[in-house]
Parts: sequence; structure tokens; C-alpha cells
Amino acid sequence: MVSSGISGLDHILSGGFPRGSSIIVEGAPGTGKTTLGLQFLYHGAVNCDQPGIYITFEELPEQLYKDMLSFGWDLRRLEKHNQLRVICTSPEVLLEQMMTPNGLFEQMVKQIQCRRVVIDSISLFQYGSDRKGVHRQAIYSLRNMLRKFSLTSLLIREQTHGDSGEMPFENYVADGLIRLSLQQHLQKYRKRTLEVLKMRGARISEGEHIYRITDEGIHLIPALSMVEDTIIARDQQTVSTGIPRLDQLLSGGIPKGSVFILDTNSKANYRNRSFG
Ligand SMILES: Nc1ncnc2c1ncn2[C@@H]1O[C@H](COP(=O)(O)OP(=O)(O)O)[C@@H](O)[C@H]1O
Ligand SMILES: [Mg+2]
Repeated sequence: MVSSGISGLDHILSGGFPRGSSIIVEGAPGTGKTTLGLQFLYHGAVNCDQPGIYITFEELPEQLYKDMLSFGWDLRRLEKHNQLRVICTSPEVLLEQMMTPNGLFEQMVKQIQCRRVVIDSISLFQYGSDRKGVHRQAIYSLRNMLRKFSLTSLLIREQTHGDSGEMPFENYVADGLIRLSLQQHLQKYRKRTLEVLKMRGARISEGEHIYRITDEGIHLIPALSMVEDTIIARDQQTVSTGIPRLDQLLSGGIPKGSVFILDTNSKANYRNRSFG
């Protein structure tokens, strides 16, 4: 298994991504796909001795380097030490290079002993080809290339409103599918959730898991598994929080024996409350 570097995610995947697998990460703009991808590469390079390649078709590198520094990830330093390569190219050039024996991509993989790849994003492959067949061939070639070198890879895909129809072809070719969403919750809050819809060769924890983007990157709070939910539902006893309004929201209080995470920002005015 390949550790994702996202706290909480390895737990949901029972250890991490299967080695050499290609996983689609989809979500609307702003859901944190680029952050997740670079967190995966940064963690691999710094903590797992697994160098990586980040391929982008869109973001201006200068902005990217700056954005990632705000999480404390110095990408330039990794590049200097051959632990990372950032490539800005077009889908056409990338595919051409990947398919050339001993082409630039292959050389780079060997040069830094690359183990991880992120492509940001595969959505642009679609604009390059009007015909379905060409698009499918491109996705197949990409998948085969990544598999040939046993590169554990994240293929980022932008989700748009018109996506509800036909199942995208990539979903069948990829080994895994992770969806990031930003949802309206109780008409007041927005919550970020991550769902693993597919993962070949791994037992996954189903359901929507809430995540946060913080100064240290993405943090996931694994939802209780269905089994645990049943146990809690059976145990009707609740413990009062000491705050009547909160008890009401929780339908009586905190279920006895459960663990709740109190997550606040620095502006929240919270005091230690005792309850027993
Ligand atoms: N330090 C931070 N703390 C909290 N949120 C952040 C931080 N840095 C960036 N973000 C948020 O992360 C999101 C950007 O994520 P990004 O990975 O670029 O998304 P995507 O690639 O899916 O468009 C933005 O919504 C931004 O507000
Ligand atoms: Mg992005």
C-alpha cells in the first residue's frame, strides 16, 4: 500500500492506495483537488522516499509554488533534491512523450526514480479530441504508461454541472475513484466531504467523510462505519453536554461511549465545559 499523506484517508482505504494504481480524484473547482495531489507527492518525497512528478496543463507554476508554500510545502527544494518534478505541458505533448520509447517522460521517471504521479487535470484531454475513440485511446495510453512503470497516480478531473449523464469512460479504466464535494448543510453551513466510490484491491470505508483544508493541508475525519453506527443507535443512552441548546441539536446529548471531535477556529469563543 502507498500512504496517501492525507490524515485519515489511509484509514478509510485500509492502509493507502494499492501500489501502481491509477485513481481519479474528481470535484468542482475549489474543492481541494490540487492541494490533495500535491500533499500526496510532498508526503511521498519527504516521508516515504518516493519521488514524484506533477503534471499540469493549467496553473501558472509561480502561483502554484506560492500557494503550496502556504501549507509549508517547499516544492522548489524538493525539485533541487530530485524528489519532485513539476511539468507544465499540453495533453498532446504529454501523450506523445509518454508513447515515445525512452521519451522525455520515461527518462524523467528513471532519472528521479519516480514512484508517484499527479496529472492536473485529465479534463483537458477531452477538448483535444472531438471523437470519442480518440479520447478513449488517450486515456488507455496514459493508463498503460503509468502501469508499465508501476506509478501510483492521481488523475484529477474537474466536475462541472453538466456531469450527471453518461458515466465517463475513465471511470472504467481507473482503479479507483474519489469524489470531493462542497455541500450545503442545514441551509447555513457548507461542508466538505470526501467519498471513495471505487478502489480495486482495497477494502474501503463507505460513506461521506468530512474534511477540512487547514494550514497543514487536508485533514479528513473518517465517518463512523455502518457497524459502529448500529451499535451507537442501539445504545439509546445520551450524555448531556451541559449546553441545553446543543443537547437539543444532538437529540438529547452525546451518545454514551462515542467520541466527538470539537473543531473550532481561533475566532471561536469556547470555554472548557464539564459534563459527566
Ligand atoms: N491555508 C488554508 N486554509 C484553509 N483553506 C485553504 C487554505 N489554503 C487554500 N485553501 C482553500 O483551498 C481551496 C483551493 O483548493 P485547490 O486545491 O486549489 O482546489 P481545486 O484544485 O479543487 O480547484 C480554496 O477554496 C482555498 O480557499
Ligand atoms: Mg486545481
